[in-house]
Amino acid sequence: MTRSFPAGFRWGTATAAYQIEGSTTADGRGPSIWDTFTARTGRVLDDATGDPACDHYRRYREDVALLSELGVPYYRFSVAWSRVMPDGRTIEPRGLAFYDRLVDTLLEHGVTPMVTLYHWDLPEALQAEGGWPNRDLAGLFADYAATVHKALGDRVRQWTTINEPFCAAFIGYGNGDHAPGLRDEGAALVAGHNLMLAHGQAAQVLRANGGEQEVSIVLNFAPVLTDVDDAAHREAARKFDFLHNRFFLDPLLGRGYPPELLADLAHLGTLEAAIADGDLEIIAQPLDVLGVNYYAPARAVPLDDPEADSNCPLPGLRGMDVTPPRGDLTSLGWEQRPESFTDLLLWLHGHCPGLPLVIAENGAAFVDEVVDGRVRDTDRVRYFAEHLAAVHTAIERGADIRGYMAWSLLDNFEWAMGYTQRFGIVHVDFETQERVLKDSALFYADVVARNGLP
Ligand code: FCB
Repeated sequence: MTRSFPAGFRWGTATAAYQIEGSTTADGRGPSIWDTFTARTGRVLDDATGDPACDHYRRYREDVALLSELGVPYYRFSVAWSRVMPDGRTIEPRGLAFYDRLVDTLLEHGVTPMVTLYHWDLPEALQAEGGWPNRDLAGLFADYAATVHKALGDRVRQWTTINEPFCAAFIGYGNGDHAPGLRDEGAALVAGHNLMLAHGQAAQVLRANGGEQEVSIVLNFAPVLTDVDDAAHREAARKFDFLHNRFFLDPLLGRGYPPELLADLAHLGTLEAAIADGDLEIIAQPLDVLGVNYYAPARAVPLDDPEADSNCPLPGLRGMDVTPPRGDLTSLGWEQRPESFTDLLLWLHGHCPGLPLVIAENGAAFVDEVVDGRVRDTDRVRYFAEHLAAVHTAIERGADIRGYMAWSLLDNFEWAMGYTQRFGIVHVDFETQERVLKDSALFYADVVARNGLP
């Protein structure tokens, strides 16, 4: 039996600028916080950096040809702010020209471009002004959005403002595992709010600039599980759920920050103080679709001491811990649980009435090897098959899901894990830059061609 997806379902692959482009000083590009972060010893595994990554800046034609060979019709990529505006403000035409060529090349190959304006690579010059905890960045981001839209808006219809503000704010400024590597929970909350404000102002600008564009934001979600169904466990799960799944979502929906969440975080003393009059209206711009990233569920337990710090990216969430994943894990140690994906999509469908969903990222890292010119990544094929079936089930049960972007087109620079985690459906040899289609690429191409699961 074939499980067919709705007609017009958007199939794609996704990447992000810093993870694939390399050429970090070419054509006037300025440093981003990820260049600075990776230059410090001990921050990223093996002290890897985003140069040359997949050398995509120079090999983009080859990569677009791969997309066309696979017959995957949508491609989600991000624009590097520090290429387009090296100091965060001044336009560098050569940087902008790269994305112009990329968009044209995609269109020539029949691939529809989907642009993400911010996938974590803030110009270092703006970090020097305080980074996301500085409210001025919202307006600067809107100016940047206007610049990119002016250059590409005649050909690009799908616009995402920000990818995963949770990670940008809480992992970047909270536990410091990502750039800029700061550990200041109070500042992290303000960064989160300012990222939302930046989204809202950019969304306004994108709409004001006219055109037929679709505006979205991409959030990462993790359904929270507990082993025991009692009040203490439910409360531990609630805390993490509100931080992870609702901090960013509820304000977008015009509901503001959930009061319970504000209470959980009140002792840090910064979030409510950062919300100025009118901010919540700006954040709640109408969205055409919501981008959903799903990889794995989380598991929560209560701590005996309700005042004890949490092990989550914001220790000040207090009184709860996230426990180790279990069952089948990916090489990154993430739990494989497709039923949580279905649960998430159905929950989102109910929580966001009338808002269509697009899966903006889903995929898995495994250890892959090229043997006789082939990569038999059966684990990844199974991951995709099970998670696509989970999406299909959610659609059957009524969720309005318009598309699915596989993470990722290429093995790439996986942030703090460097090059040790391969998420691609295309294998990249980082010595020679040779690309080899993995079995998962062939599997995915087949799913796309039949618009369904075999
Ligand atoms: C997401 C990021 C993406 C990639 C995947 C594995 O959180 O958006 O860049 O690193 O995880």
